[in-house]
Amino acid sequence: MRLFIDTGSVAEVEEIAAWGVLSGATTNPSLLAKEDGDPGEIVQRICELVRGPVSAEVVSQEVQGMIDEGRALRELHEHVTVKVPFCERGLAATRALTDDGIPVNMTLVFSPTQALLAAASGATYVSCFMGRLDDISVDSTVVLEEIADTLRAGGMTSEIIAASVRHPEHVVAAARIGCEIATTPAKVLRQMLNHPLTEAGAEKFRQDWQSRPEFGAWLRELTEKRLAAAGS
Ligand code: E4P
Repeated sequence: MRLFIDTGSVAEVEEIAAWGVLSGATTNPSLLAKEDGDPGEIVQRICELVRGPVSAEVVSQEVQGMIDEGRALRELHEHVTVKVPFCERGLAATRALTDDGIPVNMTLVFSPTQALLAAASGATYVSCFMGRLDDISVDSTVVLEEIADTLRAGGMTSEIIAASVRHPEHVVAAARIGCEIATTPAKVLRQMLNHPLTEAGAEKFRQDWQSRPEFGAWLRELTEKRLAAAGS
């Protein structure tokens, strides 16, 4: 499973992209509305940083408006994927955009039937929202599994993005279900780093190594020799 970052913040993308774990990003109007600066420049900068698909969402309520906005967003950067909200007009716009060769991420999908329609309209990605299902006391892992089973059994090729991720267990569930992507806020990606045994283990390794100062000198010398040879 690939990891995307779900954000409108360039600073967050800079931070997490440096880990080398990101394959793409998703933005949405709410996330971008929180940021200062030009939204187009933000999307372009995120595209440069993640060097993979970056979703930017249309806001028009009309089919032609969605198509026009989608084409304009796509021209911002070759990595832009046009995000289209699920609805009848969104399906029609997705069909037109994908017929033009523009990748579409159909968003706000909450059921297998919606996912089937999104996939049938040619959407490259279908975004299924986990947190918002849990918020209304619907088990998001059950729904995500039904969506994945339905699309796979139906021979649909759209990739499933687990979205509205609220905690690390959502990401694990998405991977176990077989979703191709989880788009994850920076906060959750940071939470995924932590385990007390990792921190304690690293500290013990450091202390044991420091108890043998001659070993420290040996490793420094080994490294410096290699650097000197590489520089010559
Ligand atoms: C997905 O692409 C959306 O941007 C996002 O996951 C929405 O998450 P939220 O429910 O936390 O707003």
